[in-house]
Amino acid sequence: MFLVTLLVASLSLAKPSVGQKLVQDPGVAGPPIELVHLYNDQWPTGKYQPLCQHTSLSNPETHLLKGITVSRTGRKFSNYPPGLDANNTNDGTNGRYTVAELTGNNTERPYPSAEFNNPPGGAINYSTYPATGANYQNHLIGVQSVVLDPLDRLWILDTGRALTQDGTLVPASYGGPKLVCVSLTNDTVIQTIVFPPTVAYADSYLNDVRFDLRSDLTESGGGVAYITDSSAEGRNGIVVVDLGTGESWRHLDGIKEVRAERGFVPYVWGTPVYFIPGPDQPLINAPQGSDGIALSSDGAELFWGPVGGRNLWSVPTERLLDRSLNSELLAQAAVRNRGERGVSDGFETDTNGFIYAGNMEQNGILFYNPVNSTTTTFVRDPRINWVDTMSVASDGYLYFTVNQLHLSPGFYPGTDRRTRPFALFRAQLPNKGSRVLLV
Ligand SMILES: *[C@@H]1O[C@H](CO)[C@@H](O)[C@H](O)[C@H]1NC(C)=O
Ligand SMILES: *[C@@H]1O[C@H](CO)[C@@H](O)[C@H](O)[C@H]1NC(C)=O
Ligand SMILES: *[C@@H]1O[C@H](CO)[C@@H](O)[C@H](O)[C@H]1NC(C)=O
Ligand SMILES: *[C@@H]1O[C@H](CO)[C@@H](O)[C@H](O)[C@H]1NC(C)=O
Ligand SMILES: *[C@@H]1O[C@H](CO)[C@@H](O)[C@H](O)[C@H]1NC(C)=O
Repeated sequence: MFLVTLLVASLSLAKPSVGQKLVQDPGVAGPPIELVHLYNDQWPTGKYQPLCQHTSLSNPETHLLKGITVSRTGRKFSNYPPGLDANNTNDGTNGRYTVAELTGNNTERPYPSAEFNNPPGGAINYSTYPATGANYQNHLIGVQSVVLDPLDRLWILDTGRALTQDGTLVPASYGGPKLVCVSLTNDTVIQTIVFPPTVAYADSYLNDVRFDLRSDLTESGGGVAYITDSSAEGRNGIVVVDLGTGESWRHLDGIKEVRAERGFVPYVWGTPVYFIPGPDQPLINAPQGSDGIALSSDGAELFWGPVGGRNLWSVPTERLLDRSLNSELLAQAAVRNRGERGVSDGFETDTNGFIYAGNMEQNGILFYNPVNSTTTTFVRDPRINWVDTMSVASDGYLYFTVNQLHLSPGFYPGTDRRTRPFALFRAQLPNKGSRVLLV
């Protein structure tokens, strides 16, 4: 005690001399990030609250924005998940959309049409108890991602689930969970793949999707889609889809590498983030499992990461395409631990072969290089918080949405602390990197 007192006394005498500055966190790294679009209306991938007076739209007060994808000609599409923001839920009268094309720097239009975004009676079926997702195959219920394939066709991934106004995420009904393909040449639906309840469980949450259209992958020759199930109820795994036959199956179902880690606490802008699983429920650790997904640039390896964890995992795609008797055992045995990536949501790949992921605890984005098995900081910027969705475009830029997801009512203290507008940024890829086209 005496020694400590002496030390403190001498410290207080030694005044810092004027002119000496301490080094500090520079806060910024990598190429400059450019602002591309401000979301004033619905919340992108995810939810959003309508702010502005969007004249042509009836999306009211709240919307969470999530996805972003940029076509070869520069058309941009986003989605607004009703499974993450109750104010994105279509109630049959409010005209809210779950997918939109970005038509200007801050305007949007429902895509592919207002009608397709408007299930009659709304996204939720209140005639069941408890309420369930509506069962329409020809309307969108709750879209979690929009992704362009190598032929520049837009694929819409519908979870079939939506939040009620009190924050309950309703289970899906057959018809809701689906993958819908839209032709950008005529803005028309050209294929709909409805998932059976053995592939998309009622409490699944089909989150993100990647495409490999090479014809030698399956007998049908129609190419393959890989989807993460990020279900907060723990129904995690990888869904594989044969786009030629429309068949789908699961692998790595429920193994620990696809699930959230117990006790996991992410920090964003210095604040610990805890999840509220439903109305009047006690807090839990962020429960979201396998969410971010990316194919290696040669299509041979699939990478994923749970939101509720910091590790990066991968498996050879050959193991996922196999449906033989031992295929699940072989797939589990082939899972690789790629080390820690930090806390992230969506992933991306470029022609450098890098796997990009957000690092929300560092206000940035990093990439994993499979060649030297390390992560490298790509960008940092104080404007970056929850990096939700990423999209590498043919113009050599990585586009990413920043949507304050951790400040939405699903997270402690349960109030909406998001501040509009939400943002779409882009940053130039290293070494002239560009979009990978597996076709
Ligand atoms: C939905 O919008 C209303 C009106 O703007 C707002 O009061 C409410 O907090 C929003 N709810 C959510 C879950 O964001
Ligand atoms: C978007 O913003 C850019 C830069 O401010 C401007 O050059 C462009 O004309 C705007 N585009 C539209 C459609 O408003
Ligand atoms: C609502 O649920 C009932 C009972 O299962 C079913 O008959 C009906 O088709 C459902 N409607 C929609 C739009 O999901
Ligand atoms: C829209 O274009 C696609 C090709 O991109 C074609 O297969 C489809 O038949 C067209 N649909 C309509 C309604 O014109
Ligand atoms: C790994 O590769 C990346 C990309 O080439 C490079 O930037 C990074 O410095 C490498 N890291 C190490 C530790 O070799």
